[in-house]
Formats: sequence, C-alpha cells, structure tokens
Amino acid sequence: MATDIKTYLGEKRALVDTFLNDYFSRKAEPALLSEAMNYSLSAGGKRIRPVLCLASFEVCGGDSSFIVPYAAAIEFVHTYSLIHDDLPAMDDDDLRRGKPTNHKVYGEAVAILAGDALLTEAFSILAEPTKILAPESRLRAIAELASASGMRGMVAGQVQDMLSENAEPDENTLRFIHRHKTAALLSASVRIGAILGQADPGRMNALAGYGENIGLAFQVVDDILDVTGDTSVIGKPKGSDERKKKLTYPRLFGIERSRAIAEEMIIAARDALKDFGPEADPLRGIASYLLSRSH
Ligand code: IPE
Ligand code: IPE
Ligand code: MG
Ligand code: MG
Ligand code: MG
Repeated sequence: MATDIKTYLGEKRALVDTFLNDYFSRKAEPALLSEAMNYSLSAGGKRIRPVLCLASFEVCGGDSSFIVPYAAAIEFVHTYSLIHDDLPAMDDDDLRRGKPTNHKVYGEAVAILAGDALLTEAFSILAEPTKILAPESRLRAIAELASASGMRGMVAGQVQDMLSENAEPDENTLRFIHRHKTAALLSASVRIGAILGQADPGRMNALAGYGENIGLAFQVVDDILDVTGDTSVIGKPKGSDERKKKLTYPRLFGIERSRAIAEEMIIAARDALKDFGPEADPLRGIASYLLSRSH
C-alpha cells in the first residue's frame, strides 16, 4: 500500500474511532447491552465504509470532520451485520476481528440484541438534529442507508447467500449475492458522502459507478482471502466458506480467475473517477488498496 493512502486511512479511521469512543463513554442501562455493542465495534475493523463516506464527501469539496457521525453510523450498521452473520444460525463462526465472536462472549440472545441496537442506533444518529447539513440531504442519506441495508439490499443478499449453500454454482445468483450482501452498503457509503456533499448529478453518477465496482471487488477479494488468507491475519476463520459450502468466486472460477475479475472491477472503479482531479486521489488509493489487502 502506498504510504500516503496508508496515512490517509489511519487519519480517517482515528476520527471515526474517536467518535465511537465518545459515544460509548455515555452511560446506558443495562450496561451489558452497550458493552456487547462496543465489544464488536471496538474490536478493530478496517473502517472502510466510513472512510469511503468521508473521502467521497471531500471529493465534493466538504470538510469531512463535519460528517464523522454519519460515517460512523454506517459502521454501526456494518458491525450489526457482522455480529448476526457470525451467529450459529448463519455462518456459525467463532472468530471476528481477531477476537471471539459476539455470541461466544455474550451468548446468542445478547448478540442478537446488540445487533438490533446497533442497527437502530445508526438511524438515531443520522436523524439527530444538526444545523450543519441541509435537512433534505440528511433525509436522502437516511433513505440511502435504509434501502442499501434492508429487503432490497444487504439483508436480501444474506438470505440468498444462505439459500445458496450447497447449491449448484450459478453465476447470476453469485452476482446477486455479492451485489446485495456487500456492494450495497459499500456503494451506499460512497453515495451518502456524495449526497451530504451536495454532489451534482454528474459527480453523483461517477461516484456511484466507483462505489458499485469497489463494492463488488471487495467481496471477490473477501472470498479469495477465505481460501488463501491466514486466520491470524484476516482475524476470522479461514475456510469458513468451504465448510458451509458457500457459493463464492473461487468455487465458481478458481483463485486465479477470481483475482483477474477483482482486478477488472478495480480498474472499472478507478475509471469511473477519470474526470476528477487530485481531490479523488484518496478514492483511487483506496481502490488499489482493496485489491492488494491481506485482511
Ligand atoms: C467483512 O467486512 C464482511 C464483508 C462484507 C466481506 P470487512 O472486511 O470490511 O470487515 P472489518 O470491518 O474490517 O472487520
Ligand atoms: C458477509 O459475507 C457479508 C455481510 C453482510 C456481513 P461473509 O459471510 O463472506 O463475511 P465474512 O467473511 O464472514 O466477514
Ligand atoms: Mg456470511
Ligand atoms: Mg461470514
Ligand atoms: Mg467471507
């Protein structure tokens, strides 16, 4: 990873982490719930979705420190999805972000409820009155996050992912799964930054194209790392997809072809930014990083 993008990611991640730490320094009863929520949130994710939101806002000329709560709200939704994804009824995994999964520590009931609370809390943060952003933009951002996460977005992808365990490999179904379970929230992160930054339709289109492509590539790389990665590096159990007979890119195309597909998607993502100047360098850098990442 080029040093400047590494620095950029580190700085933005720190902004998000500071917000999250402050958020959980306020007391909430029963303490068990906020403890369980914060356990997974603070376990050390890459914070790619909030950073994408901040970077996209900056492309539109904004000072991203103003929208950190909105970016962090996306991380709440993402973390809820991980807690539920790991449950015995779903992927049944014991390790996440290098630590025992939420249900391993708190039990299934609290893990389900911690996920529920993270999801609803995200919308509470987004709906919080503020003078900084125009109400119409905030409303559009809320609608964007809701639709990317719900019955036509991430949850639809998760259901199809589950229905496709042990199924005959089928490319269209695989694309559906990836577009919904992963690309929806990643591309919404980019679009929310653009909405809050009041992007004109041309910019919005370009950023949406970028978001869709990095979102798809992200899950192809995730599928590859499940086969080739190291449990201690990826922070989650290697081989989980094989164990659950998931429909993945490596299963359908093999590792080499999957890598080539991810590369094409990243090229398409960078291409979508061709009319932007240096202000889009962080987004370009993130795209390249997502391809080369080892966790
Ligand atoms: C994992 O997402 C779940 C997928 C959608 C593939 P990340 O790889 O972004 O996980 P964290 O947030 O860094 O832990
Ligand atoms: C999950 O996909 C996507 C989510 C919506 C959480 P995976 O099941 O492949 O994610 P990991 O590999 O467990 O992080
Ligand atoms: Mg899963
Ligand atoms: Mg999983
Ligand atoms: Mg995976």
